[in-house]
Amino acid sequence: MDIAREIRRLKVERKALVLAHNYTRPEIQDIADFTGDSLELSRKAAECHAPVIVFCGVRFMAETAKILSPEAIVLHPNPRSGCPMADMASREEIASYRKDHPDTLIVAYVNTTAAAKTEVDICCTSGNAEKVLESIPEEKKVLFLPDANLGANLNRRLDRKMALWPGWCPTHNKILPEHILEAKAKHPEAFVLVHPECTPKVVDLADQALSTGGMLSFVRNSKNREFIIGTECGILHRMCKENPGKAFYPLEPAVICPNMKCITIEDVFLALRDLSPEIKLDESLRLRAREPIGRMLEVLP
Ligand code: 13P
Ligand code: SF4
Repeated sequence: MDIAREIRRLKVERKALVLAHNYTRPEIQDIADFTGDSLELSRKAAECHAPVIVFCGVRFMAETAKILSPEAIVLHPNPRSGCPMADMASREEIASYRKDHPDTLIVAYVNTTAAAKTEVDICCTSGNAEKVLESIPEEKKVLFLPDANLGANLNRRLDRKMALWPGWCPTHNKILPEHILEAKAKHPEAFVLVHPECTPKVVDLADQALSTGGMLSFVRNSKNREFIIGTECGILHRMCKENPGKAFYPLEPAVICPNMKCITIEDVFLALRDLSPEIKLDESLRLRAREPIGRMLEVLP
């Protein structure tokens, strides 16, 4: 069976839209209708009006699609594809923090569960975090969760003093300053791009820290010809495809998010064939979780 052809056939039959994150396997990006970062994917889910969305990304991303597109059947092809960082801040823990700090505004990275989003004030992604924080008065006390690296990088960049939740991305935390220094020694002309989920020490060694979508548009518009890429290696597929004349150097050892990679092309085929596994959210939870996402989209429509 030609699985890519079968998926294309089922997509038409089901009037389905396949959305894929920039870290998913190359063969999934190739059959997707749209590939992007968390913010771009949220926007796509909100505006698409497709009766079926197949969401190839980790669970919180598929939940966000369901929150924004409640009428659609949102399929998450492999329920094991979760984000460990999102699981580091539970709804109960956040509620307890809020009770102890009633005057603190809670900003949640979109990498949080739908349940956790019911306890926060506003969401952000790595693509719009600066804009979201600029919309909050400087004197306001803020807690940023769950990513302490992203929060620390934002504190430094914007000269803020947000309290930071002790969460981290196990994949980006594995990137060490020496990995960047080794890549720079091998490719002295290359421009260094890293994800802001990397530690501040790693970000200090980079030329820019950007969301995955930000990196893709940066390399497209840049006059530089060589780039060292400090994020999950799935992004190299689009980078190479979209920029044939430019060279992209991954770090060593390879940076791989096993959670993104556990969705296979077979899972996508089965999800479309069986219309399962589906993301289901309790309606009152969905409405409450939609509020902080809605505020984020209002700041940066
Ligand atoms: P982006 O929003 O930059 O795509 O990041 C999502 C993510 O999970 C990074 O680890
Ligand atoms: Fe979560 Fe990190 Fe994987 Fe992104 S790379 S999905 S933050 S574990």
